[in-house]
Amino acid sequence: MNSPFLRIGHRGACGYEPENSLRSFKKALTLKVDMIELDVQLCRSGELVVIHDSKVDRTTDGIGSVAKKSLEQLKKLDAGKGGSIPLLPEVLDLVDNRIIVNIELKGKRTAEPVSVLIKKYLHKGWDKDNFLLSSFSREELIDARENSPNLNIGVNITSLKKDTMQFARSLGACSIHPSLQITTKKLVDEIHRQGMKVFVWTVNEEKDIARTKEINVDGCFSDYPDRL
Ligand code: G3P
Ligand code: CA
Repeated sequence: MNSPFLRIGHRGACGYEPENSLRSFKKALTLKVDMIELDVQLCRSGELVVIHDSKVDRTTDGIGSVAKKSLEQLKKLDAGKGGSIPLLPEVLDLVDNRIIVNIELKGKRTAEPVSVLIKKYLHKGWDKDNFLLSSFSREELIDARENSPNLNIGVNITSLKKDTMQFARSLGACSIHPSLQITTKKLVDEIHRQGMKVFVWTVNEEKDIARTKEINVDGCFSDYPDRL
């Protein structure tokens, strides 16, 4: 494991700008992150939108489920500082193959349309290693692997289950993404023994940044990626 430590902008750089907004992704780029992380959901009209929750309530001036709103309705909402909820292609066009984009499959049935979209970007010349698909949902991860046999996949976890490693290996995952709370040296060593990388979320405090680096994690997601 000699690869450099990766600085990953969580929901862009959401400590500085509204989460999952184009402003946030632009900020992360100016902070020279190695990777940006974002969350995707499907809206009623079938587009992939970049928003964390299944409802718009917390992050916009609207209310209700993303899945029950058309893109036209969603685009009218203020998702922070006057910006709208971005479409996934809008974020990809902004990044323009310069750094890795970690697309977290947050919503149900997002794996297949995300894979279709990525294929378009690969045809446009994107480097396949500039995509990393991840999810907490095993269903989405299995679908992602079926639809994208060659893409990098990461498994998000909040606890280590008996079959976590076996599941990740069966997927051909390249990384496991544990929460900071469960990240120990023992866990990191075990993931490395299994041939995968460890990307930890969400690491904002100096003492946690120091500890995760000391136990050799491969990268951290941070709301303040410049602190990494
Ligand atoms: O993908 C890592 C991290 O983003 C998972 O948690 O809730 O911030 O999506 P959450
Ligand atoms: Ca996320």
